[in-house]
Amino acid sequence: MIIKEIKKDVYGLIIQDWSRTLFDELIPLPDGTTYNSFFIKDKKNVLIDTADPTKTEELFEALGEIGVEDIDYIVSNHSEQDHSGSIPSLIQAFPNSKVITNEKGAGFLKSMLLIPEDRIIKIEDSEELSIGSRTLKFIFAPWSHWPETIVTLCPEEKILFSCDLFGSHLASSEFYALCDEKLYTSAKRYYAEIMMPFRNNISRHLKVIETLPLDIIAPSHGPVYNNPAFILDAYKDWLSDEVKNQVAIPYVSMHGSVAKMVDFFVNQLIKKGVGVKPFNLTTTDIGELALSLVDSATLILGTPMVLAGPHPAALYATYIFKVLRPKTKFVSVIGSFGWGGNMLKIITDMLPQGLEVLEPVVSKGYPKEQDFENLKNLADMVVERHKQLKIIGG
Ligand code: FEO
Repeated sequence: MIIKEIKKDVYGLIIQDWSRTLFDELIPLPDGTTYNSFFIKDKKNVLIDTADPTKTEELFEALGEIGVEDIDYIVSNHSEQDHSGSIPSLIQAFPNSKVITNEKGAGFLKSMLLIPEDRIIKIEDSEELSIGSRTLKFIFAPWSHWPETIVTLCPEEKILFSCDLFGSHLASSEFYALCDEKLYTSAKRYYAEIMMPFRNNISRHLKVIETLPLDIIAPSHGPVYNNPAFILDAYKDWLSDEVKNQVAIPYVSMHGSVAKMVDFFVNQLIKKGVGVKPFNLTTTDIGELALSLVDSATLILGTPMVLAGPHPAALYATYIFKVLRPKTKFVSVIGSFGWGGNMLKIITDMLPQGLEVLEPVVSKGYPKEQDFENLKNLADMVVERHKQLKIIGG
């Protein structure tokens, strides 16, 4: 763990989960993660967010190290168990403590963690609470993962406790963000996996947060930002409508036909100056695919026909694409079949509205001269469409 006094009597407690490999049994964690809590000693003692239930003992150790004898308020910015999981033990250990959340959060805490109603204080949007020499302002930021999410501002210290928002799944020995390429990629991947589905909501929250005078943004995953501009500027880019002159190509190939087509298509795009990110779905880390979707202008799915439909791995990628709701503008399919089936309709029916579907290329068996010609045409179409877009760096 890392314990740091950020400002006088304001402590950051970072508990690393170095070996966690999956989040929500879904999201791969190549760099583990952390659960961050923050403790403010004032007339009232406040703990902001807690830890995953598996790390409750470490959270108690951290509180012991900074000499916490009593807690008045536990602020639950977000009810998901990786931040609320230690609340049941904490309210037992500190019988005078109350949990601060909003109406929706109270519902989640009661149903998921069996927190008694009489231990909860419900606050309204923008409500302020004096804790002595400091104030806490609770700003509702719904869908910065779940619908109940709050960010908490301490105006006197110019700190925003943002919970999931601005987080990164990055366990490290650094308390403050190094703001290097590694962190940037980790925060971007986290954005893709957790925040991108709620892009419109996050854009609205960002506009509010940008107006706050902030020295520190303190998320509850990954390092803390003492240079808030780094992560605010990154979010502005990721949330903007601009895309890269780049094509993400998740594909799967059973007997080499789709692989041959993808390979040819990739080389065509490279020759024409388009960036490409191919992902073999049998081996790829799905988080890497999500990361590439943050700003790829186009998605091309590669799949063979299996049992009269797309390969299940391609369906999974289509579903991930649909639920992550990236700002991708164009989509198409490269495929092959042996004797028949309906993979194009199954895929296009799953796609979100508002995308332009470019003419797919599907070969019967191994690709032949006409299929390669069609792939060249598809590459030309991609180039043409990208020319019409606001391209990052273009
Ligand atoms: Fe880090 Fe949505 O929990």
